[in-house]
Amino acid sequence: MISLVFYCIMLTIFLLNFTFLKSQSLTTSKNISLSSRYLDSVLQDYAFRSFSGPHPKTGVVYDGNVTPELTGIKVSALRLRSGGLKRKGYYGYKEFDIPTGVFENPYVERLVLVYQNLGNWTSFYYQLPGYMFLSPIVGLLAYNASHLKAKKLPELDIRASKNPILIKFASLGVKSNKLGVKPKCVFFDLFGGVEFDHVVNGSVCLSLKQGHFGVVVEENVSEKGPVKEPENPIAIGGGGGGGGGGNDYEWLIGGMVVVGGGVFVLLVVVLWTSRRWKRRKRMEKMEYVTEGGVPLAVSAVGNAMMPVAMETRTKPILESEYVTM
Ligand SMILES: *[C@@H]1O[C@H](CO)[C@@H](O)[C@H](O)[C@H]1NC(C)=O
Ligand SMILES: *[C@@H]1O[C@H](CO)[C@@H](O)[C@H](O)[C@H]1NC(C)=O
Ligand SMILES: *[C@@H]1O[C@H](CO)[C@@H](O)[C@H](O)[C@H]1NC(C)=O
Ligand SMILES: *[C@@H]1O[C@H](CO)[C@@H](O)[C@H](O)[C@H]1NC(C)=O
Repeated sequence: MISLVFYCIMLTIFLLNFTFLKSQSLTTSKNISLSSRYLDSVLQDYAFRSFSGPHPKTGVVYDGNVTPELTGIKVSALRLRSGGLKRKGYYGYKEFDIPTGVFENPYVERLVLVYQNLGNWTSFYYQLPGYMFLSPIVGLLAYNASHLKAKKLPELDIRASKNPILIKFASLGVKSNKLGVKPKCVFFDLFGGVEFDHVVNGSVCLSLKQGHFGVVVEENVSEKGPVKEPENPIAIGGGGGGGGGGNDYEWLIGGMVVVGGGVFVLLVVVLWTSRRWKRRKRMEKMEYVTEGGVPLAVSAVGNAMMPVAMETRTKPILESEYVTM
């Protein structure tokens, strides 16, 4: 019986898992993954490709091209000496003003700062329930510049040690002028964290770290009441571009096998138990008869005792026999 219960639990877990994965793969079934971290690695590649030759100029912004599927997203790449960045900063890298004192970890001699502007893809990759974006999401991510053909590079960690990095958004949507609607800066770090901050000078955000930035307002403030906690937008849609149709098919087959197996095991157990029950009943009757009891009284007592006897006495047998099946 314990095995059977265990099996049922496993089956339930499996089925839950199955439906979960199923719904996940539905969201990624469009060829483009919804994962913003996956997008980061794709855009790193397109940004690096904008360096035309093997020796791109230091301190020059190169604008890249993305695949037609991602039309609307802009990327750029800027190669800098680590020492120069720290000493001089870099003002006017698109929306970003990078002050002096910004350093990377681990140390590299040269680094590439990748710029992203998600344009009309902003709310596609960064969903923030209860909020509306007034600006596109822009990103600033740092990479090791030693190998310019590299793909899937990990980001370096960059920090502003003196003044914060400024993100100067050109213009915010008309909604910001509405009475009682206060725009906020939103910051998405690279690990799924979301932070809000106030907007400075109308359309400027400040940050000490790299990541993705935008300006948002709360939607329908009057109706909502308390501020809704934003869900983790980075977790949307699982990692990578996988989740193809073949995978679903395998899961379906797997599910059918397990369900079929479960039904089979259940049937076997039911049959086996009922046969045992009958045999035991017959034997006990015979025992009573051979002992010379009164047949009528015996059957009444036997029936009443039966369920209890079954529970306690057959349990270990069932357990061991099931295992050897
Ligand atoms: C889907 O993405 C793959 C790369 O992940 C690409 O090779 C393929 O051309 C894309 N298919 C379509 C229909 O866009
Ligand atoms: C963004 O705009 C481009 C055309 O400018 C379009 O091809 C693309 O599908 C749009 N993206 C989204 C997520 O709507
Ligand atoms: C940067 O890349 C070069 C070449 O691939 C490698 O030798 C070096 O260890 C990398 N540095 C870091 C900090 O990852
Ligand atoms: C805000 O504007 C004032 C005046 O134009 C300027 O002095 C200050 O540096 C600005 N602050 C930021 C963070 O842009």
